[in-house]
Amino acid sequence: MFGAFPLAGKIVAVTGGASGIGLAFCKLALSSNARVIIADLKLNRDTEALVADNNKASFYKCDVRNWKELEDLVPFSESKFGNVPDVYAANAGIAESNSTGFWNDAEEDKYAALEVNLGHPIKLSRIAIRALSSRGKKGVVVITSSIAGMHGHFTTPLYSASKHGTIGLIKSMALAETEANVKVVGICPG
Ligand SMILES: NC(=O)c1ccc[n+]([C@@H]2O[C@H](COP(=O)([O-])OP(=O)(O)OC[C@H]3O[C@@H](n4cnc5c(N)ncnc54)[C@H](O)[C@@H]3O)[C@@H](O)[C@H]2O)c1
Repeated sequence: MFGAFPLAGKIVAVTGGASGIGLAFCKLALSSNARVIIADLKLNRDTEALVADNNKASFYKCDVRNWKELEDLVPFSESKFGNVPDVYAANAGIAESNSTGFWNDAEEDKYAALEVNLGHPIKLSRIAIRALSSRGKKGVVVITSSIAGMHGHFTTPLYSASKHGTIGLIKSMALAETEANVKVVGICPG
């Protein structure tokens, strides 16, 4: 059994941690006495103050579509807090806008919604399993999905497909709890 997993003293890394739901995760973890890594494109005024006022919070600048930057989250944690993260929250996500949506995307590159919303949770899960097993630690991956992962939406098919993908990933990783000592869970806001 995975057992109790109190956050006190743990290292919690949150992608998209600079605002919204990710910031709420970070504040919750800090209030539980965890050390927190806010992994995001940039800080805003609120999160700048949070990091400046709290030596248990730190900012790691990354674009989750860039695998090298995502991988380097682990050495960042080791240098900042002396160990690999215990909790990996794959939370960064983007809505389907006019320019990046199914109906209007210029198709000059990959679909951004899939890269951010699905590619990065897959990659971060792999990073987490490798990092935790290298240290003989157990840990948790928390993926922010959506109710859009349970229902189709004609206006936002890419977003919906990406979030369906995360639910498939979370369900598929159930055995990681016993096979790899990593519990993969998800939330579906909305
Ligand atoms: N707010 C909702 O009602 C709702 C509902 C269902 C699901 N969600 C999901 O919750 C998660 C958080 O959403 P939110 O509402 O808090 O959004 P938000 O826009 O407030 O926060 C998203 C954060 O992700 C960051 N981000 C975006 N692209 C990034 C990238 N390429 N690399 C690094 N960081 C990046 C942004 O800078 C931002 O800080 C998303 O996955 C979203 O799909 C939100």
